[in-house]
Amino acid sequence: MTTATPEIRRGLAGVVADTTAISTVVQDTNSLTYRGYPVHELAAHRTFEEVAHLLWHGELPDATQLRDLQARERALRPLDRTTAELLAGLPRTCHPMDVLRTAVSLFGAEDPTEDDGSPAAHRAKSLTLLAKLPTVVAAEQRRRRGLAPIPPHPDLGYAENFFHMCFGTVPDADLVRCFEISLVLYAEHSFNASTFTARVVTSTRSDLYSAVTAAIGALKGPLHGGANEAVMHMLDEIGDPGRAAEWLDAALAAKRRIMGFGHRVYRHGDSRVPFMQAALDRLVARAADPEASRLATLHAALRQAVLTRKGIHPNLDYPAGLAYHLMGFDTPTFTPIFVMSRITGWTAHITEQLAHNALIRPLASYAGPGQRAVPATAG
Ligand code: ACO
Repeated sequence: MTTATPEIRRGLAGVVADTTAISTVVQDTNSLTYRGYPVHELAAHRTFEEVAHLLWHGELPDATQLRDLQARERALRPLDRTTAELLAGLPRTCHPMDVLRTAVSLFGAEDPTEDDGSPAAHRAKSLTLLAKLPTVVAAEQRRRRGLAPIPPHPDLGYAENFFHMCFGTVPDADLVRCFEISLVLYAEHSFNASTFTARVVTSTRSDLYSAVTAAIGALKGPLHGGANEAVMHMLDEIGDPGRAAEWLDAALAAKRRIMGFGHRVYRHGDSRVPFMQAALDRLVARAADPEASRLATLHAALRQAVLTRKGIHPNLDYPAGLAYHLMGFDTPTFTPIFVMSRITGWTAHITEQLAHNALIRPLASYAGPGQRAVPATAG
């Protein structure tokens, strides 16, 4: 009797692992939808807090529900003294994603409420993370600049408060809106690597903080969320827009990955890119300085060169990376901002996973040595 060779899907490419009601890419229109709503319409007309409610509860909030979410989020923003001091004591050389991962671990250790696995308990913890993560990210950007943290402002919206905590000022509404668009576009994307990581951890019936800590680790990598930061390093490395094509040829010859390009799901272009690119164009026009123009020209030249040479389209990280730079954020803060947004999608998936849980445990096709006897110990 012969045994059939199992089909191996490396990287789980093309594998449908479960159902989800949270988001999908509608193939006919190539549009990403959250709970059925096209993400570009949400980005154009809704705030990030409304989108968080939509992802968690399945529907957009009414006025009372939105007021309630905002009031609770604002009250939860401050860090307690122990957490703030522990995070401030981490080496300045560590990456902000390491700080964020440690922060979530600390929040888990300090949370006195029991994780009974109920959706209500998970929503309370999700809101806590949504509220506190920006406080950690902003304090870390300032710590790396040798500056003291600025406490959250309870009268400011989610996006405005983040600018306040980073810079001590809130920019005009148009710039804040560009930032908010990025948060909405980054919030959720089905079974991507970090979300799937969160679901794997949840599937063992571990707690929400453990799942989010693991998800942060998965997002940090440059093939996933770390790409928005890597885009900026790449633009810095190229420098002159006139060098884009020559740099690309050398990078491809060296088999380097071009950061911010390609996607496992979209083969003909990431549906979120046009909306983030439009926000980036607004930021470049507003800046109206030679440095912003140089970066925008370089950005466009590289995009064209990658399309021409490799036929690969940019993903959301490509316009978002430069947009965050033009908003004034330091490059190591880019991926933590992605976390501030994706925490909504991760936690929605954690709740969904638990609602119809099955332990996630794939098989492997063994390729090592056949069974053999352990040799006698030497001597
Ligand atoms: N630069 C150079 N070549 C690329 C790139 C890229 N960015 N993306 C894909 N390719 C090439 C691969 O080398 C491969 O070519 P080959 O068949 O000749 O070896 C082919 O395209 C297919 O690539 P895969 O790795 O099979 O595609 P996969 O779906 O596994 O990769 C990924 C998706 C990891 C995102 C890839 O496109 C990549 O590495 N991009 C750069 C990192 C990045 O921008 N990540 C952000 C993803 S989006 C997000 O997290 C918000």
